[in-house]
Amino acid sequence: MAETERHPFLQGLSKHRGAPPTVVVIFGASGDLTARKLIPAIYNLGFDGLLPADFFLVGYGRKPIADDDFRKDAAAAITEFSRRSLDPAVWGRLEPNTSYISGGYDEKAAFDRLALHLADIEKKIGRELQPLFYISTPPNVFAPILVNLGASGLAAKYLGQPHHAKVIIEKPFGRDLDSARALNATIRSVLEEHQVYRIDHYLGKETVQDLLVQRFANSIFEPLWNRDFIDSVQITVAEEVGVGSRGGYYEQSGCLRDMIQNHTMQLLALTAMEPPGSLDAESVRDEKVKVLKAIQPLTIGPAGEVIRAQYAAGLMAGKQVPGYREEEGIAAQSGTETYAALRLSINNWRWQGVPFYLRSGKRMARRVSEIAINFRRPPGTLFADESARFDLAANTLSFQIQPDEGLSLILNTKIPGLETRTQPVKMSFRYAATFGSNTAEAYERLVLDAMIGDGTLFIRGDEAEASWKLYTPVLDYWRSVGRTGMDTYAAGSWGPPGADALLASRGHCWRQP
Ligand SMILES: NC(=O)c1ccc[n+]([C@@H]2O[C@H](COP(=O)([O-])OP(=O)(O)OC[C@H]3O[C@@H](n4cnc5c(N)ncnc54)[C@H](OP(=O)(O)O)[C@@H]3O)[C@@H](O)[C@H]2O)c1
Repeated sequence: MAETERHPFLQGLSKHRGAPPTVVVIFGASGDLTARKLIPAIYNLGFDGLLPADFFLVGYGRKPIADDDFRKDAAAAITEFSRRSLDPAVWGRLEPNTSYISGGYDEKAAFDRLALHLADIEKKIGRELQPLFYISTPPNVFAPILVNLGASGLAAKYLGQPHHAKVIIEKPFGRDLDSARALNATIRSVLEEHQVYRIDHYLGKETVQDLLVQRFANSIFEPLWNRDFIDSVQITVAEEVGVGSRGGYYEQSGCLRDMIQNHTMQLLALTAMEPPGSLDAESVRDEKVKVLKAIQPLTIGPAGEVIRAQYAAGLMAGKQVPGYREEEGIAAQSGTETYAALRLSINNWRWQGVPFYLRSGKRMARRVSEIAINFRRPPGTLFADESARFDLAANTLSFQIQPDEGLSLILNTKIPGLETRTQPVKMSFRYAATFGSNTAEAYERLVLDAMIGDGTLFIRGDEAEASWKLYTPVLDYWRSVGRTGMDTYAAGSWGPPGADALLASRGHCWRQP
């Protein structure tokens, strides 16, 4: 295939869903996320011909960096982190359109310089560019950046037209209900809600999007997707890694803030929401908010519905690893949880009485994120073993979000032979086996969606608040009791005994994915 056919971007063509000419400005452009995810995402969009012909990238940060050095850093980031190797033809098109502006995040004059820089680019090419601001800094400067986008006029640029300014905001979105409300208020003071794209990169993952397709593009699931047929739902987001070098950050965060409040709640909302009227952003997010609001407040305290724990020393892949409180940067008496598990009840017609179990942790036996729908056990009268030692397995439908993305269904089947004996078997579909493994990364999809103005896979302000409303009382309670009630689990295990007890009280047990 000719070079120009491989890269429509090179010809100034775009075969995508129509992003207008755009300039992406990354705040915090010297950071880790920019190098590991954002630059490679933009490069791969270019490679796939999904960037508009007029596309510009501007890095912004406090550290003074020359344009040339920023370009070199960007090329190095692509070489190291992109899923595709650096193609000189694609990079050769992006490179000259890449520049850097240095300035403080609370420095109005620097934002005025940025505005002039964008205007200069537009003048040079003789057309207007949609400004897409990506806030990829630590959260302490989200608010000053927003305020200065407002004060410099950048936030309102082209408002009222389709190529109006848009702002992507990284996580974490607040650290409790009050801070999330305050951040939403700052946003509202400079932007309209439709200009704002709050990231939860889980929503950019293929399997998470496939959840909507599986649920609503197949007629066999929806009739069963309710309390009459589903016994319980388990959502697991397990990491193998420990806290590593991010101890300082993690001590202020913990598992509930870092994983449960955002990623697992997004998975829950997509699993449990009612079918939306359409797939447009507002219809989908309306349904997600409705289901989040239908979750009953958690019972907190001893024998409550939330448990927390810290990992103790243990074996990971045969290697001894330290416990959380022995890690660098962690207080010896730290009260930060590295694991949380909880039972949620959704108080609506569809889910009344069906427990939703959520768990997440570091240093767990395996890195896996999955949603498992456990159906009611079939009556075993016909096939139960006479001695009652065996029972029919419950059918389980599981969506594996990562790694090894796919879908599987556990069914009971007959063991070949003269006796009628049953055994659960797994029917599996793996993305990589069917579609190949080099699929787009979450950030590619999300940056493209923001560029074309599709907010479906982003979190709306009221959605973030609904989730914080549920968890803030838990965080307040934990802060008030210090380490009291903190469980432990060995690194490399599936979690603490308290988490097993939480399920056992309802006759359930955790899956070992
Ligand atoms: N890294 C990830 O994998 C990841 C994943 C999900 C979400 N996120 C979120 O994405 C955002 C960026 O993450 P990151 O890992 O790239 O962060 P980072 O490397 O710590 O910071 C990004 C940039 O922000 C500036 N900065 C750092 N500390 C600052 C401070 N205290 N005050 C003001 N500016 C500061 C620095 O640039 P200058 O000094 O040049 O201004 C830095 O290069 C964060 O909100 C993070 O929570 C990151």
